[in-house]
Amino acid sequence: MKLRSKITVLTTTIVISVVFFTLLPIRSVIIDAFRKELEKKAVSISRNLSDRIANHILLKDHFQTATAIDEVLGKEKEIEYIFVTNENGVIFEHTFSDNLPADILSWNPVAGQEMNVQLLETEKGYIRDIGVRILKGTQSVLHLGIREDSLRNTLTQIRYMTVPVIIVVLLIGIAASFILSRFITEPLNKFVEFTKVLGRGEFGGRVDVQYGDEIGYLARNFNRLSMQLRSTKEKMEEAYTYTHLLEAEKLSSIGQISAGLAHELKNPLTTLKMLFQAYKEQPDMTKEDAEVISNEIEKIDNVLTNFMSFVKQKGFHLSETNMNELIDRILSLATYYIEKSRIHVRKDMLESLPVIKADGALLEQVFLNLVINAIHAMPDGGEIRISGKSDDISVEIMFQDEGGGIPPDIQAKIFNPFFTTKEEGTGLGLAIAYNIVNSHGGKLFFNSEEGKGTIFTVRLPIEGEHG
Ligand SMILES: Nc1ncnc2c1ncn2[C@@H]1O[C@H](COP(=O)(O)OP(=O)(O)OP(=O)(O)O)[C@@H](O)[C@H]1O
Ligand SMILES: [Mg+2]
Repeated sequence: MKLRSKITVLTTTIVISVVFFTLLPIRSVIIDAFRKELEKKAVSISRNLSDRIANHILLKDHFQTATAIDEVLGKEKEIEYIFVTNENGVIFEHTFSDNLPADILSWNPVAGQEMNVQLLETEKGYIRDIGVRILKGTQSVLHLGIREDSLRNTLTQIRYMTVPVIIVVLLIGIAASFILSRFITEPLNKFVEFTKVLGRGEFGGRVDVQYGDEIGYLARNFNRLSMQLRSTKEKMEEAYTYTHLLEAEKLSSIGQISAGLAHELKNPLTTLKMLFQAYKEQPDMTKEDAEVISNEIEKIDNVLTNFMSFVKQKGFHLSETNMNELIDRILSLATYYIEKSRIHVRKDMLESLPVIKADGALLEQVFLNLVINAIHAMPDGGEIRISGKSDDISVEIMFQDEGGGIPPDIQAKIFNPFFTTKEEGTGLGLAIAYNIVNSHGGKLFFNSEEGKGTIFTVRLPIEGEHG
């Protein structure tokens, strides 16, 4: 049910109840008053008549008695019957047209009193029987039965009068409730519309409700909320743009990468082109030329392979991955290179690491890149320490070398694609590693001290997140 209908129903119910519960007692007060009045009137008629006929009864004058009774009957239309008894309590005169009811004397026995009133329930409705003693000390009594005709008429009149009043009051009530509900629902509708606007993410708007009451207060709060949402959104957007810029700067900007790629490819391609140019003019190729060609092609191949793995970061296969096993594998892959470079690898606390949800093949690439970088950092040999630690939520693997460290002026650039200080390097190793760790919901960071060495840390969430 709509709010407006609810308010209308509620107000209508209130109006009906008010009308009902005020009319009911009024009605019973009217009836009471009326009955008392009727009884007073009947008693007074009875007393008068009784005084008038007392002598006639003593004289046993039926004619005068009947005349007096008829006179009263003629005047008072509501009188149902009159009957009188003589000194011995025997019926003397009555107005019943035919048979006298057999038990008539037991209807309202006056007994020892001077007067008695009894309400009789008959098929003609309620009749008030007034019994008045005519002659003191005898059983001569006058009984007058009076109907409540006029009461019934009055009640019918009241009903005829009140029904239209009730209808008018009801109509006014319904109209009032309708207007009232409009007053309430109209601003509420504005609120509903406003929440829709907010729901669409359009913050900063205002509800246009000018009330000095609770609704106005609500509107003010809503407007404040809207402004707060807007400024929060703006801040978030700012932060997002900022981090996005950072990310883009480090990794994802395909444009930047492509430019780098073109640049990377340009050198070997120029060399090749020059060689082939020379080859065209002088078709005998020396062994050195062939070696240069082969080297350049390898360079191109390297750049392209790395570039592909940098760009193709989509197929992600998470599985239970044991860090210790992973590191053993890459170390055995690189055994020859490690030994040739006179490097010693020390492993610490890797066995106790929990198994994590990760893409093993991609992490292998990360670890291999870090180990190779560490080897490159120590051209005269040295020790690489690979260690691990974990808490409830993440695992950290550290790769520590004893190389020359990363000079402060290039520290901000080492994750940039194609940034390299090496003759043979592509500069994609760390960019790819960063991207992979990031995709796992993890962090790749380093601490470096010039002249002492560098520690690269890979922190990965145990549960695995695909970012
Ligand atoms: N352990 C380290 N010690 C000192 N410098 C490092 C270390 N790791 C990386 N760097 C610096 O960061 C640069 C970028 O590293 P990255 O792995 O991205 O590329 P690269 O190693 O030069 O090339 P590639 O990985 O293709 O062989 C390196 O050229 C080097 O200057
Ligand atoms: Mg590298």
